[in-house]
Amino acid sequence: MTWRRKMTDETTPVRRLFNTCKQVFSNGGPGIVPSDDKIQQLRDVLDNMKPEDVGLTPTMPYFRQNTGPENLSPPPITYLHLYQCEQFSIGIFCLPPSGVIPLHNHPGMTVFSKILFGTMHIKSYDWVVDAPMRDSKTRLAKLKVDSTFTAPCNVSILYPEDGGNMHRFTAETACAVLDVLGPPYNLEGRHCTYFLDFPFNKFSSANGVVLRDEEHKEGYAWLQERDDNPEDLNVVGALYTGPNVED
Ligand SMILES: [Fe+2]
Repeated sequence: MTWRRKMTDETTPVRRLFNTCKQVFSNGGPGIVPSDDKIQQLRDVLDNMKPEDVGLTPTMPYFRQNTGPENLSPPPITYLHLYQCEQFSIGIFCLPPSGVIPLHNHPGMTVFSKILFGTMHIKSYDWVVDAPMRDSKTRLAKLKVDSTFTAPCNVSILYPEDGGNMHRFTAETACAVLDVLGPPYNLEGRHCTYFLDFPFNKFSSANGVVLRDEEHKEGYAWLQERDDNPEDLNVVGALYTGPNVED
């Protein structure tokens, strides 16, 4: 066995993910989508990842259902930070049953989301290009995904301008989602914005917007920007204790 072969065999899945991200996002930046080859490379790595590759099991406390009076508020979601540099970030969202990550955007980013276990509903939108704004905070969007996914399933990928750049995750059972962002959010221009979505008919007549395919209006919605810290977002950070990410 050659040295190179031996090294490959000994690489853990999470290190393989890290090394692949380094290659895929090496020339990355806001609005820059990796080539089809690179997307496929990262897709292949993520499609094969399992909860145990990042030290997770569904019996961990992050995934427990709320009991007691506090169960009226959304259950907390735990974020495990694995790695972040200027080009990309890797992290895991741990959602108990009924946990929701409210509708939010990913400005200029390409995002890979792999459900490691559990069942999750994903609703996502893209902006309708050239549609008039209803007001400075409300814009027309087109529905991209409105489906439930159960692991094991393939990775979902969104892009700066399509693929469902604005999305909401709703946990139907406890679930874990491995997220790769290229580039990550930052305070200088790639800010995470949250939205409320309203049916097309709610504002369309007052706004004079007419759809060419009127019969498909269920496929459209108005997205209205929210405050920076929506009251239904309850994410807490926790220390990642799985296998080492870096060599
Ligand atoms: Fe997201």
